[in-house]
Amino acid sequence: MADRPDLRRVDHTAVESSRTLYDAVGGMPFFEALGERFYDAVASDPVLLPLYPDRMELGPARRRFTLYLAEYCGGPTDYSAERGHPRLRQRHLAFEIGPAERDRWLACMREALDATGVPPQVRVPLETYFDSAAEAMRNRD
Ligand code: HEM
Repeated sequence: MADRPDLRRVDHTAVESSRTLYDAVGGMPFFEALGERFYDAVASDPVLLPLYPDRMELGPARRRFTLYLAEYCGGPTDYSAERGHPRLRQRHLAFEIGPAERDRWLACMREALDATGVPPQVRVPLETYFDSAAEAMRNRD
């Protein structure tokens, strides 16, 4: 996968012995907590929720996102094993994503990051990745 976070920027006090962002955050519990908080925010978001094919049951979407992000950050490869190559832009073409949807996605993610209380050494590379990934998912002006 292209555009991994620049892990050299994460190499500071709290995480100095960690080799990957996945290790730096202490592994899967962080990704599960982030996915949970993020989808809690989506569930009450009037712009994002209508985009989800099964808006009453966000559990499967949350699980796919959690596994994807953990793998992207250097963790286990369960996402690829289950879903194959992410092809995220292609998978998102089914949903109308313009600037408003992109910005709501990022706002929900910031809310989720706030709730997890992750240190800046980890938050900065994650936010940098999310900013560019959310823009890459935009498929409408
Ligand atoms: C920019 C605004 C975005 C919107 C509105 C959006 C919306 C959606 C929707 C509606 C789905 C389908 C959920 C389902 O399968 O039930 C989905 C799937 C997914 N999204 Fe997003 N998304 C956005 C950005 C992102 C970003 C930036 C990432 C990654 C950093 C991401 C990662 C994923 C993943 C991993 C899936 C599951 C793909 C699969 O089927 O395996 N999304 N998204």
